[in-house]
Amino acid sequence: MGDLTVNPTGAALGAFVDGVDLSEPLSETDRLYVQGAFWEHSVLVFRHQELTEAQQVVFSRYLCDPVAHPTNVTNVGELPEICIIANVEEDGKAVGALGNSEVTFHADLAFYPTPGTVSVLYAVEAPNNSGHTSWSSGIAAYDALDAQSKDRLEDVRIVYSHRRSDYRSADPVIHPLVCTHPESGRKTLYFSSNHAASVVDEDEAESESLIDRLRSYTAEERFTWTHHWRPGDLVVWDNRSTQHRRSHVDESKRRYMRRTQAVGTPDGALAPQQEDV
Ligand code: OGA
Ligand code: MN
Repeated sequence: MGDLTVNPTGAALGAFVDGVDLSEPLSETDRLYVQGAFWEHSVLVFRHQELTEAQQVVFSRYLCDPVAHPTNVTNVGELPEICIIANVEEDGKAVGALGNSEVTFHADLAFYPTPGTVSVLYAVEAPNNSGHTSWSSGIAAYDALDAQSKDRLEDVRIVYSHRRSDYRSADPVIHPLVCTHPESGRKTLYFSSNHAASVVDEDEAESESLIDRLRSYTAEERFTWTHHWRPGDLVVWDNRSTQHRRSHVDESKRRYMRRTQAVGTPDGALAPQQEDV
């Protein structure tokens, strides 16, 4: 393997990391370099990787503290930290989550008091003609606001909820919109289009209007970048500074991905239920 290099996509976020074999432990120097690149670019793509579940978990630990997926409890791998995202069925049963569906813009687990922070997705099998994943940068979206809008949005708080009632927390889940990223110190719009329900302290009309505007603003093409998967791709993203979406998957093709994830709060603050401890 050559020396590790980081090659930015040229879009608002994302970089390719080349010259590294993630089945081997990273040196301390490479680890620091990858961590720095991650906080800078929010999404990193490592191509041509051949990884076991255990090696994926080792890699995930360089950037976060992976946990078992809080909702996707049936589609798990051999290791508890691994969940399966796939359109594959065995004996008439889906072996993974999400199937072939299009998935609209979201930040993982935003409907939880401790939402997703870092997510890692590794393609074991993936078609190149469909199931593309796009990310949008909350940092670029914040930076592009004019001073008046930054002011208007500074103290906005959003209530999040999942369509499925069995995924909902007992208490309303509220996260600040403008967050300072705990690792990079950069300001970012933390937003999950898919799960945003209302704005705290706004009447219904203003709440709906602001959420609609945030949905379209954060999805603007200038803030986004799309990845076309190949088997052996490992992508890691930061849910605190990005949203992502996935296009529909061609049902005639197999798509089988392994995922690890970590949870925390968007701004690194203690979650309400932890403050009481
Ligand atoms: C996810 C997700 C996108 C994909 O794992 O959180 O949104 O490309 N997956 O399958
Ligand atoms: Mn997701």
